[in-house]
Amino acid sequence: VAGDADKGAKVFKKCAACHAVGDNAKNKVGPQLNEVFGRTAGTLEGYKYSKAMISAGDGGLVWDDASLTTYLEKPKAMIKGTKMAFAGLKKEEDLENVIAYLATFSST
Ligand code: HEM
Repeated sequence: VAGDADKGAKVFKKCAACHAVGDNAKNKVGPQLNEVFGRTAGTLEGYKYSKAMISAGDGGLVWDDASLTTYLEKPKAMIKGTKMAFAGLKKEEDLENVIAYLATFSST
């Protein structure tokens, strides 16, 4: 992971309306993102995903640096039918930094 996690914490403010990380993170509008690295898409127990996200996981999509980059750049382009209402991050450094921030909440 190439980014700067401290800068990524600021970028994550754009995500935090819908996603929690850290101690006692709960699902909100979106699933909590602890241990998202290595998670098969659409598989966090107790969260109700779109059919599109579940099929992506059935098709073998696992979240890692590369797949998160593609998804967060333009969610609806990668997963048609995702219910994540977010246009995406345009700046490459924002992408790298927010992914570095997420990595600090994942053990793999
Ligand atoms: C799903 C990250 C912004 C709502 C996801 C997933 C990731 C993610 C990795 C898939 C998780 C999984 O498979 O368990 C992010 C990041 C964001 C962001 C890093 C900011 C850069 C948002 C915002 C919203 C949102 C602003 C609400 C307006 C959702 C929802 C899902 C989701 C509803 C489930 C999608 C589905 O089932 O199709 N997000 N997200 N996210 N996110 Fe986000």
